[in-house]
Amino acid sequence: MAKAKKKRKTKPKLTAKTADRHVLYGLSVQNVEAEIDFVEQTFESLRGRKAGLIREDFCGTANSACEWVRRRRGNRAVGVDLCAETLAWARENNLTTLSDEERGRVTLLERDVRDPGPEGRGADVVLAMNFSYWIFRQRAEMVGYFRSVRESLGKGGVFILDHYGGSDALTETVEDREIDGFTYVWDQHRYNPINGDMTCYIHFKFPDGTKMKRAFEYHWRHYTLPEIRDCLLDAGFRRTIVYWEGEDEDGEGNGEFAPAEEGDADMAFITYIVAEP
Ligand SMILES: C[S@@+](CC[C@H](N)C(=O)[O-])C[C@H]1O[C@@H](n2cnc3c(N)ncnc32)[C@H](O)[C@@H]1O
Repeated sequence: MAKAKKKRKTKPKLTAKTADRHVLYGLSVQNVEAEIDFVEQTFESLRGRKAGLIREDFCGTANSACEWVRRRRGNRAVGVDLCAETLAWARENNLTTLSDEERGRVTLLERDVRDPGPEGRGADVVLAMNFSYWIFRQRAEMVGYFRSVRESLGKGGVFILDHYGGSDALTETVEDREIDGFTYVWDQHRYNPINGDMTCYIHFKFPDGTKMKRAFEYHWRHYTLPEIRDCLLDAGFRRTIVYWEGEDEDGEGNGEFAPAEEGDADMAFITYIVAEP
């Protein structure tokens, strides 16, 4: 007797029509597990205790905030973003993946990160990730934001930012990356070397040939690492530490970040900066 064939569920193919740009963003740009590992370990090594409350600035879909409360009972997270539509998406799609108890430990604030209000104060860690703080294109605006973060931190709190540097960051270039079921396209569309302004887009391409063009767009100024460290010092932070990524045997980044005072002049590198008041 012929063996009965098991019906196998196939994942429906993504197309520009059916895909959700926020889901694609999370899959291609973010690695919140690794990011939160770094936050947990770094805070504990600097302060000798575990962080409890984090504030995720520019939180958008609040992926990091959700990961934080999932990690440990007692962890609390505040997400801050100006965009009501993205926060609504976060509530409907990400917060709903949490248990009721976990959801009760997340607060989302529709506010400017420079004025997060009383609920945005007292964090052990304020996070500014995905280079979102480059939205502040005037140096004085950037220092103002950093100062407001410093003033809002809880006792012993630290500020953690990511940074993308190297000569590749200062060019106009398009880079494709295959992800499961779609292609992520990072388009460094325009860079103005006179004032550092850059315009970048994220596009997505699908196996059926459809495209989601300019799913996200960014109008930033590219700041170098020393510029950001100087801005942090001007905002009153006492010390900044750059965490440089280690290498595997092929010379590729290994995902392990350690404090460093010297780095290699790589064409592209991502680092974390930790600022202490
Ligand atoms: C690069 S996206 C970050 C996306 C986020 N990591 C996510 O998971 O969706 C930048 C975010 O910053 C927000 N934003 C821009 N300027 C802001 C400001 N001054 N205050 C608060 N949020 C701001 C935008 O609404 C956008 O959601």
